[in-house]
Amino acid sequence: MDIVLGLQWGDEGKGKFIDLISENYDITARFNGGSNAGHSIERNGRRITLKMIPSGIFMKGVQNVIGTGTVLDPVSFKKEIANLQAFDETVQPETNVIISLKAHFVLPTHKLLDVFMEESPDYTTIGTTKNGIAQAYSNKILRQNVRVGDMFAPDFKSRVRHILERDYKMLAEGNVELPSLEEISNEFFEAVDFLKKFKCTETEIYLNKALVEGKTILAEGSQAAMLDIDHGTYPYVTSSSTTASGASSGLGVSPKKIGDVFGIAKAYCTRVGNGVFPTELFDELGEEIRTKGNEFGSNTGRPRRTGWLDLPALKYAVMINGVTQLVLTKADVLSGLKSVAICTHYELEDGKIEKISAVLPDNAKPVLKWMEGWNADFSNMESNSELPQELQDFLTFLEAELGIPVAYLSIGPGREQILKLSSK
Ligand code: GDP
Ligand code: IMO
Ligand code: MG
Repeated sequence: MDIVLGLQWGDEGKGKFIDLISENYDITARFNGGSNAGHSIERNGRRITLKMIPSGIFMKGVQNVIGTGTVLDPVSFKKEIANLQAFDETVQPETNVIISLKAHFVLPTHKLLDVFMEESPDYTTIGTTKNGIAQAYSNKILRQNVRVGDMFAPDFKSRVRHILERDYKMLAEGNVELPSLEEISNEFFEAVDFLKKFKCTETEIYLNKALVEGKTILAEGSQAAMLDIDHGTYPYVTSSSTTASGASSGLGVSPKKIGDVFGIAKAYCTRVGNGVFPTELFDELGEEIRTKGNEFGSNTGRPRRTGWLDLPALKYAVMINGVTQLVLTKADVLSGLKSVAICTHYELEDGKIEKISAVLPDNAKPVLKWMEGWNADFSNMESNSELPQELQDFLTFLEAELGIPVAYLSIGPGREQILKLSSK
């Protein structure tokens, strides 16, 4: 099983890369997160953003698993399927999407509670996507939630109603305006009926059997290392395990079965939502990168914060994930800049230097290395030999620092805009 995962704060271009390489696999499998993800894929000049459906969906013959480590919002899923079919009528998700019976549901009140907690002065505002992700995962951990497999039980509706009513009592104390309970329950149960059209199974067994039969699996991460619940920039993180070990536990596939780990990183950094971002640019250049890179959340439309590449954080992400190959995206966005910077290390107040870290004291000073910028027309570039020398130097520097090859260089949002740089 190979894995694709994000190494920064999300939106590195995972969807585009997975859409491309899923043709080499029999199965793609999402292992974490829910509708907080937004994985954009461009096909024939049109773009779709997938939230829950794995990014191998357009590849004929590929099965797409929504794994046990995910949280599934049936209402959002139903809309996503409609959107997918409007985008491409040849896609038949009923035949190639397989859902884990053990994935947890995101309930309508989870989303309302997410909004409530984000807006209440009694809680830390995280800047979430308001998809009820933390509420679904926390109820999972509390062992109070319902799972996909429960939808076949005769008492499913009464169990869900009980939870919704209990949550409404809590929400009522917060003096927030609430939709009618009847309305949100009906919408949820209708979406659950729709979900029953799909194959729901013990995906752990399905995936392990597939491996025994010699089939290949590509695990798809959502969010990214710096948003990981354990290793990210807590508390400004998501609520799932976004790392390679999360792929193993989220899919029920032994760590021994992990092959390549493709880590995706932009040539700079972005972050949407609150939290530490030491290399953030607050000036016109930051704005220029945002505009040129179209750095607006694929899920929420929020402007993404922009900044220079953070090597200590990237090293940390490569280390905890055991990344074997780096996929660098969006080098084209920096084209035309006279010089570009990389944060190589941090200086702490006591003069100490930190070269690998994700969590630093607020006053840690990022130290920048400036390199010559590059300028090239990437739109129709097909060969590595056309890469400007300055960009090649940038890649060589990264490879030396990270100790892994830059295997692919993505040079635009289009499906074909990618160069394979090294083969293992
Ligand atoms: P994901 O969440 O990691 O799948 O990434 P998103 O889809 O949220 O955000 C990545 C954005 O960058 C999308 O709009 C992609 O179409 C776009 N993109 C991906 N790779 C490249 C690239 O190499 N260059 C440029 N300019 N855009 C890219
Ligand atoms: P993909 O898979 C970027 C961020 C939110 C917020 C924090 C917690 O497209 O890379 P949550 O809704 O998960 O409780 O929000 O995590 N976040 C993402 N940022 N890309 C994502 O997914 C994200 N999913 C969550 O902005 O800061
Ligand atoms: Mg995204």
